[in-house]
Amino acid sequence: MISSPTFSTSRNQIAGLPIADLVSRFGTPLYVYDRSIIDLRIADLAAFDVIRFAQKACGNLAILDRMRRQGVLVDAVSAGEIKRAIAAGYSTDPQKHEIVYTADIFDAEALELVLEHSIPVNCGSPDMISQLGERKPGADVTLRINPGFGHGHSQKTNTGGQQSKHGIWHTQIDDCLRRADQHGVTITGLHMHIGSGTDLEHLGEVCEAMQRVAMEVGRTVKTISAGGGLPVPYKEDETYVDLTKYFELWDTTRNTLSKEFGHRLSLEIEPGRFLTAESGSLIAEVRSVKQVGENLFVLVDAGFNDLARPVMYGSHHPISVCGKSSDASEREEVDMVIGGPLCESGDIFTQREGGFVDTRKLPMCRVGDYVILENAGAYGFVMASNYNSKMRAAEVLIEDGEAKLIRQRETFEDLVRGEIIPS
Ligand code: LLP
Repeated sequence: MISSPTFSTSRNQIAGLPIADLVSRFGTPLYVYDRSIIDLRIADLAAFDVIRFAQKACGNLAILDRMRRQGVLVDAVSAGEIKRAIAAGYSTDPQKHEIVYTADIFDAEALELVLEHSIPVNCGSPDMISQLGERKPGADVTLRINPGFGHGHSQKTNTGGQQSKHGIWHTQIDDCLRRADQHGVTITGLHMHIGSGTDLEHLGEVCEAMQRVAMEVGRTVKTISAGGGLPVPYKEDETYVDLTKYFELWDTTRNTLSKEFGHRLSLEIEPGRFLTAESGSLIAEVRSVKQVGENLFVLVDAGFNDLARPVMYGSHHPISVCGKSSDASEREEVDMVIGGPLCESGDIFTQREGGFVDTRKLPMCRVGDYVILENAGAYGFVMASNYNSKMRAAEVLIEDGEAKLIRQRETFEDLVRGEIIPS
């Protein structure tokens, strides 16, 4: 089991490089990824036959390129993600299954791309089987099944049960087989992803459901996918899932089905957060420190346009302070609210689910210090927006002790590209 991390309230370096140097080279707000942490997490999952990165978590081309070089395959949930994977060098050879399109619908562009490049499809609705079958009779597909229950770190990331739009309802396999039959489509795999930030408790049930559905589909099934959802600790009292147990449960399911079908099934896992969350930090500069009634507000130059998770889910991110002119570790720790620059009261990084402003005990901040929002490498930059006409941040990858720019900070020209003032 991976030992739980300890989070510090102050730090001066990321991956051995001084934060002040990173900021003077690249400015703020700045996303920084430590490659060595991604590599560690890939190694943790080596027991699985296939690790497929859910690129929605962190889709920068450089990150995809590094995943590819480590033998990690990729999923894609949109035409844009298929194009990203191809641009990062993933092969579209139909034998290799390097890119899989996993979604609940085809939009017109995605369907054309899938057909053009023979991208394997993981269908999240029965309609997808028919729509693909009509255009490509005889295709192979896998099915994403909603087993009737789910679990996530928040209701918004729970992807199973009757309130979830995701996947094919577990009692509708008949309908899928009928549709497949109609177009000569073969169901070659099954996939279950019950939520993001899930736990071990539901896994027994997931494996049972997988076994039941696989038996219903029959021996055309060659792969099963555990989906993503592996949590990472964002607080000190949170833990990783016991990966040995996690693998064992899935491996047992795979072995039972392999015996039943007379061929060895391939076992996939499809994590996003687990692979990149801990590698990423968002560095922001303190621009104002002000007392508002009883609350001390520390306002930084990154907002929910840069990191949306606290506002969207009440997510907790570890936060540390890097002193500009003196070591923050020597300062008194006080309760403070950390907020951003946006014209919205909810633009607060220290909040609880339900949108309540919360405080965090951190070293007293001064204007010019840096605040580091940690574990921001999954669903961080990829969920950034241009709200309030803010340019999106730059991204930097640190590998072999060197900081490399992997995405330029946006400019005003990027911001208004495509906008038209009619004459
Ligand atoms: N596979 C499928 C089909 C998914 O829908 C997802 C996530 C994953 C894999 C990867 O899940 P992960 O291993 O990263 O938990 N924005 C939210 C998370 C949304 C996840 C959406 N689907 C957040 O910031 O927590």
